[in-house]
Amino acid sequence: MRFPLLFFITVFTLQACQPSTQSVSEQTQAAADGADAEQVSNSDSFYYSNDYHSFANPEQVLVTHLDWDVTVDFDARKLQAVAHLQYEKVDPAATTLIVDTRALQVSKIEANDQQLDFTLAEPDENLGTALHISLPEQGSVVSIHYSTSPDASGVQWLTPEQTASKTSPFLFTQAQAIHARSFIPIQDSPGVRITYSATVRTPENLLAVMSARNEPDTARDGVYEFTMPQPIPSYLIALAVGNLEFKAMGERTGVYAEPPLLDAAAKEFEDTEAMLIATENKYGAYAWERYDLLILPPSFPFGGMENPRLSFITPTVIAGDKSLVALIAHELAHSWSGNTVTNATWRDLWLNEGFTTYLTYRIMEMIYGEDRYRMEAVLGMQDLQQDLQTLSAGDQIMAIDLRGRDADDVFSNIPYEKGALFLRDLEQTVGREAFDQFLLEYFDAFAFKSITTDQFLDYLQQTLAAQYPDKVDMQRIEQWILKPGLPANVPVVESDAFSSIDHQRQQFLQGEIRAADIKVGNWTYHQWNYFLRGLPESLSIDQMSALDSAFNLTQVSNNEIAHTWLLLAIQKQYQPAYERLYNYLTGIGRNKLVRPLYAELAKTEQGKAFAKRAFEEAKSGYHPLTIKANQDFVN
Ligand code: BES
Ligand code: ZN
Repeated sequence: MRFPLLFFITVFTLQACQPSTQSVSEQTQAAADGADAEQVSNSDSFYYSNDYHSFANPEQVLVTHLDWDVTVDFDARKLQAVAHLQYEKVDPAATTLIVDTRALQVSKIEANDQQLDFTLAEPDENLGTALHISLPEQGSVVSIHYSTSPDASGVQWLTPEQTASKTSPFLFTQAQAIHARSFIPIQDSPGVRITYSATVRTPENLLAVMSARNEPDTARDGVYEFTMPQPIPSYLIALAVGNLEFKAMGERTGVYAEPPLLDAAAKEFEDTEAMLIATENKYGAYAWERYDLLILPPSFPFGGMENPRLSFITPTVIAGDKSLVALIAHELAHSWSGNTVTNATWRDLWLNEGFTTYLTYRIMEMIYGEDRYRMEAVLGMQDLQQDLQTLSAGDQIMAIDLRGRDADDVFSNIPYEKGALFLRDLEQTVGREAFDQFLLEYFDAFAFKSITTDQFLDYLQQTLAAQYPDKVDMQRIEQWILKPGLPANVPVVESDAFSSIDHQRQQFLQGEIRAADIKVGNWTYHQWNYFLRGLPESLSIDQMSALDSAFNLTQVSNNEIAHTWLLLAIQKQYQPAYERLYNYLTGIGRNKLVRPLYAELAKTEQGKAFAKRAFEEAKSGYHPLTIKANQDFVN
């Protein structure tokens, strides 16, 4: 029986989210609290776990395992489900279990064949609705019968026309940050880890896959069983259903995709197995058995999502030349930083994304060499600089204060690129070998735990800082994590592959060479993007047009290059690109690619009218998160 072990793991996890009492922690908490104290809304009662984005009461009653029985109803766009929640009373006197929900219809809750009393609280716009369940005196499982709403924030339902194969409908979930509660009533906090099992019933011929053990050659009979034996936070529970096929890429790696995309995806991502091996050689054994990819329809709102054992991936990175596979390195790296060691609250997201971005650079360097790493690091630094110029001081803090705010607001380059640069700084301080050893031990020390920024700081103080007292400066580290902007003398990366581009761009802008004379040779995506990003505001329409005639940029197939070009086209009101722009906005739902375009269009009346037309056409195929993130630009 695995329950005693589970109990041990989960209680330990819960302790891991208590505020620490050591000196650095006190300082960091005080600094974060001071930042925006007046913003505190409904936070006081959630003090225990310090997770301001969950109503749950794990400090009293802790859910440890989910057994999910779910029927996928494509006609009604609903999941009909029973969530059997296994719990432990941490406080023996507790009588109520509180879980998070959002727009769920709860029909009944049972335990030991008896109906239980329950109440659904008033909904909160950001957090959803607390579900209070009166527990029986005896027992350890409650069964919640419920269905989801057709516009659940964490579920997207697609018609056959909105998929690649056009033959079957498609469904996928996206739980991070706090959307698991829109399809499972659960303690939806990253500080709470659970194991799960699931039975998923689908129309026959469709395949269901989950962030769990998947059997690549399971019979396609419409009933699928899953287990996730390792405790994971709720934001990593994921389900997809569609006309999916599997192709192996290596011994432990493979790809699920709709048939028209399967071969191209397997080819594009064929280095995944090598990435997996390189990463585990450096940072410790891969803990999750298999690592597969699932290619989603183009409406997937993110580039990728690190659902354990099965990363969800946008099809927009299948460029044909592996130029965008850093995304795969990134989602894979989360298997260590994020899925094995997890942020305890959304304030600590940088522990997930900063470490993962740092690891991504290291993996890319190991697999594709230093030149590629350098180019990617320069582009990453540009992204960071842009956010540092535009974000408020509070939002430039890695350990961001999110009280009273939507957890999705933490999505910027700060937790990613600033986080990675901080780790690069530490690496350069103690040397690569010592830093790699530190990371290896860190991933091991906190494996299957959820930790806060404060715990990380305490750990750092006891390890690297104690080992290298003359080199590691805790004050500088606190500046990185708790202050806006960057400390002095941050690591600088340069790329030779970019220097000749600067020179040629300059020559072109000054009229010394014609567009057609720019020696693009076999410029990669990175070089094109660098070239285009560096074009100044003073660029004329004639110059744009010359570049377009010479290099056919309006029709470029790489979605990232197209994005940069289209952004420029909007700024310059370069009409020849508007048809492509329209097709781009209506064909892709990845928020990072479309949002800056809508934002730029919204700056002029004409642009706004155009944006409105595209948005209206695209809306039925956009994910709820993409709709939410862009609707203000068109209203
Ligand atoms: N876990 C994130 C996606 C995410 C973050 C979803 C926060 C919801 C809230 C994922 O690993 C990620 O970072 N994706 C990036 C790709 C990456 C290469 C920067 C993306 O989707 O663009
Ligand atoms: Zn990530």
